[in-house]
Amino acid sequence: MRHLIDIRDLTQAEIVSLLDLADDIMARREDYREVCRYKKLATLFFEPSTRTRLSFEAAMMELGGKVLGFSEAASSSASKGESVADTVRVVGCYADIIAMRHPKEGAPLAAALHSTVPIINAGDGGHNHPTQTLTDLLTIRREKGSLDGFTIGLCGDLKFGRTVHSLIAALTRCEGVRFVCISPEELRLPGYVRQDVLERSGASFAEVRDLAEVMPELDVLYMTRVQRERFFNEEDYLRLKDSYILTPAKLESAKSSLSILHPLPRVNEIDTAIDSDPRACYFRQALNGKFVRMALILKLLEEAEK
Ligand code: NCD
Repeated sequence: MRHLIDIRDLTQAEIVSLLDLADDIMARREDYREVCRYKKLATLFFEPSTRTRLSFEAAMMELGGKVLGFSEAASSSASKGESVADTVRVVGCYADIIAMRHPKEGAPLAAALHSTVPIINAGDGGHNHPTQTLTDLLTIRREKGSLDGFTIGLCGDLKFGRTVHSLIAALTRCEGVRFVCISPEELRLPGYVRQDVLERSGASFAEVRDLAEVMPELDVLYMTRVQRERFFNEEDYLRLKDSYILTPAKLESAKSSLSILHPLPRVNEIDTAIDSDPRACYFRQALNGKFVRMALILKLLEEAEK
């Protein structure tokens, strides 16, 4: 059974073929309206979400399938003490594919070991978020025309920001991507990403604190929210939450071809005055997320039927 727990569960060729399929779905939506008829997607969300859950559900509906699930742990049997292993064994009796978000790192992997249907990791704690990465890759490819040879600035909470961890893992497999990691000292990348992924890949990367000093070099700027829910104390969060606020003035030194991405939700790290700047891609990015999830559901269901 094929699952998507870590972005590296997919080969680079498989990623490219998913992005191609997402492009094709965008271009020929009518042709995909019935392809998942009689199929069901279960969304098991043990942690809050707007975009990820609703884009998965919209994706399945647009493929002609149906959706079921829950959006908080309190409304599931987890609140009675059921394990994720038992939950997915049971849900596999009712649904053909499962998207799971969980506050505990590794929970979707544990689920996959016991599941008879494909499991998609829709975010596990501060660890990974592979479907956001597919969204980000599709956005970069659509905006830039290629996944190779650019400088990306990753800015904000690089410690707890799971989207950044998965995105780095994916981009180190592309050709000639340069990474500039911009964060306060306390929110630098964890060792399992810096050493095990970035350094090991041989990619060129720098770690800096100041966004302004690197702005002119960047082709892509990936802004992130400081992940309040993963802090051990509120004091640290309050001290760090406004570390970076992107304003029109700060963009003056940026390239005119810069692409600004953000997985959303935004708190205050991007001034809303930037939303109308053509370089702001984050709402297009949210739309791309639905199409790439349609492509993923379709591929995983096809594989499961083999
Ligand atoms: C991200 C997440 O859940 O990790 N959101 C999303 O899925 N689009 C980013 C975040 O919550 O900051």
